[in-house]
Amino acid sequence: MTNTSIELDEEIQETNDSDSKYFSLISRLSKQSVDKHFNAYEDVDWDAEEMQIELGKGHWTLTDGQLDPIGSTQWYQGLDDLAKDKLGLYSVAIRMKFGLQFESILKRGLLEYAFRLPNNSPEFRYAYHEVIEEAQHSLMFQEFVNRTKLDIPGLTKLDLFGTSIIVKLGAYFPALFFFFVLGGEDPIDYVQRKALRMEKEIHPLLQRIMKIHVTEEARHLSFARHYLKLNVPKLGFVRKTTLSIAVPIILGTMAQMMLQAPRQVVKEFNIPQDVLKEAYKDNELHHVETRNSLNKVRNLYEELNLMTPVSKRIWKLFNIL
Ligand SMILES: [Fe+2]
Ligand SMILES: [Fe+2]
Repeated sequence: MTNTSIELDEEIQETNDSDSKYFSLISRLSKQSVDKHFNAYEDVDWDAEEMQIELGKGHWTLTDGQLDPIGSTQWYQGLDDLAKDKLGLYSVAIRMKFGLQFESILKRGLLEYAFRLPNNSPEFRYAYHEVIEEAQHSLMFQEFVNRTKLDIPGLTKLDLFGTSIIVKLGAYFPALFFFFVLGGEDPIDYVQRKALRMEKEIHPLLQRIMKIHVTEEARHLSFARHYLKLNVPKLGFVRKTTLSIAVPIILGTMAQMMLQAPRQVVKEFNIPQDVLKEAYKDNELHHVETRNSLNKVRNLYEELNLMTPVSKRIWKLFNIL
């Protein structure tokens, strides 16, 4: 099957920000979670022959730098076939590992958020559907990582610093928490949709995992965005100012983490600094892609009147405006 023939679920976009529209949207999302959901072990045929992960057959080679610009550098082109495949697989797997660690923070924050909701909150049911779905994603991602038989590291202690604060935001500052959610989910969703639509055939196992993920993420993104649309205008000056400053810092940092080769990959494969510079820093196409992956969340930020002359400088500093 060619990738271009894949139908992907799109996020529901409501224009109206009234409470009643918001609640009917949440009910629809909850119903969709019942009608269309996936189980990590029932819905992925892990043991099928075509799903097996093998190196040296070119299945994991990065081509044309479409997904990771490292692939289009001369340095990468000069590697032997096995090394090319190994770096490609390692890159996919480490992003899955980061993804499941991000989802762990996300689930804990959602539980904090739901913990304080009163009886009969439609958000309670929705948040639990999302926690369950994220748990299935994390099972899928970890199973994939295990099956690579590579020792894939996770985030460093430094990256994980601040995790407990983010989790607590779910309870005490949900608007900032949901911007953090979009900062992780939007770039991943952008890259996965792009990969699924690429001409190049991707490995059936990766394709299956991404397809399941994109389908369910459409709901998560829709909820986070509509939560923010309804609730940010109700916030006071201090919270709005905090959002205005913190959001571009979060988005800039997270997009970089998702779209550039992580330190761990650089170390494992001894990628020279000038190659990294060529692939990312000096590569205008990469900057354009990074900005594109944040288009939706940046539009929302502007729509919510959070852009100020000061915050604009932060966006520019991270090169994401
Ligand atoms: Fe997920
Ligand atoms: Fe999600």
